[in-house]
Amino acid sequence: MLRINLARLRQDLEDLGEIGKTPEGGVWRSSFSEADLEARRWYLQRLQDAGLQHWVDAAGNIYGRVGEGSPAVIAGSHIDSVPNGGRFDGALGVMAAFECLRTIKDHGVHTKLPIEAVAFTDEEGRFGGFVGSYALIGQMPYEEVMRRRDLRGVPLAEAMHAVGLDPARIAAARRDPNDIKAYVELHIEQGPILESLNVPIGVVQGIVAGSRTWITFRGRADHAGTTPMSMRQDAFLGAAEFGLRARDMVLTEGSGTTVGTVGVLELKPGASNIVPESAFLTLDLRDISWDVLQRLLERTRLIAHEVAEKWGLEVTVERMRVSEPAQMSPHLQAIIAEAAKELGLKAHWMNSGAGHDAQVMAKIAPAGMIFVPSRQGRSHSPAEHTDWDQIENGANVLLHTLLRLANE
Ligand code: GLV
Ligand code: MN
Ligand code: MN
Repeated sequence: MLRINLARLRQDLEDLGEIGKTPEGGVWRSSFSEADLEARRWYLQRLQDAGLQHWVDAAGNIYGRVGEGSPAVIAGSHIDSVPNGGRFDGALGVMAAFECLRTIKDHGVHTKLPIEAVAFTDEEGRFGGFVGSYALIGQMPYEEVMRRRDLRGVPLAEAMHAVGLDPARIAAARRDPNDIKAYVELHIEQGPILESLNVPIGVVQGIVAGSRTWITFRGRADHAGTTPMSMRQDAFLGAAEFGLRARDMVLTEGSGTTVGTVGVLELKPGASNIVPESAFLTLDLRDISWDVLQRLLERTRLIAHEVAEKWGLEVTVERMRVSEPAQMSPHLQAIIAEAAKELGLKAHWMNSGAGHDAQVMAKIAPAGMIFVPSRQGRSHSPAEHTDWDQIENGANVLLHTLLRLANE
């Protein structure tokens, strides 16, 4: 049975892990940052060196390809990262897809359909996330590109221009659904389940619905020494109470598996002797049920306004992104499971609590995901780790999944 070359894949993952490396041993490659651009250049050179057809689309998605014709079987993930994230999140899926193309090319394997590897732009969300995959499915209109900005206020359009991408051409990144046979993504689990079960392969059934909301409370800047407590409009108090009430909401009104996170809190002007004039925070809210998420998003808005009124503040609530839950194709689940079985690997069926480009791709094509175990379930942290033999297993399951799909 054909196998990927682990030494080569490991070298690529280690080399990529050096780009944007942090002192803690993680990586920091926010989309279109210097580190991300370096990673892009590095990967394009690797595709070139491997003698593979490759190109960059109007959204900055990087493609590699073996074979000719249509529709294509596409494997992929992302090489951008969260701030001080792990080396494997996203990188594994892209480097493994690249390794599969090289293995297929080196062994002169011919498939009925072409196989592509894609590295998607801004999966992690410097600019809201899923920029590349939404562009691919034709659901990233120009107006949406112009709306998106990062936490510092840098517009996505500006970041695109800086690398020679024209936002006005974003529609050119769209692929005809008839040109896509299937999409497959190998990813680390980012949770503790596979490790706890001692099972090497996860077959993903569904991906949760997710949302990102930006909330800004506005009060009044005043002297911290002279302003009586009763005369303040302290924006921090709005944020603090909102954070606790959002947690209560998740626990008492959610589905039981709902999760909510305030990951950013910023006070302005930000001095110890000034009552904060504004408090900005982000709420990441997720649930497998679309209805539950929609209901909680409405409640979020209400709670923000209640809290603002209580503390004499103004508030704006901005929904930055909402992504629907997705079902992975039963046919792809079966193929992934067969590939694992053929390789002598046990598989476990599970949902994904993390968001992935696969949930976007599922809107226009059969999509599937393969998970490999994460040590202690750690991810979005430099502590992220997956053993090399597990990576080899996952990449081989990806290879045989792609071969099966491309020969159907
Ligand atoms: C992506 O990693 C996400 O789930 O936020
Ligand atoms: Mn991630
Ligand atoms: Mn990821």
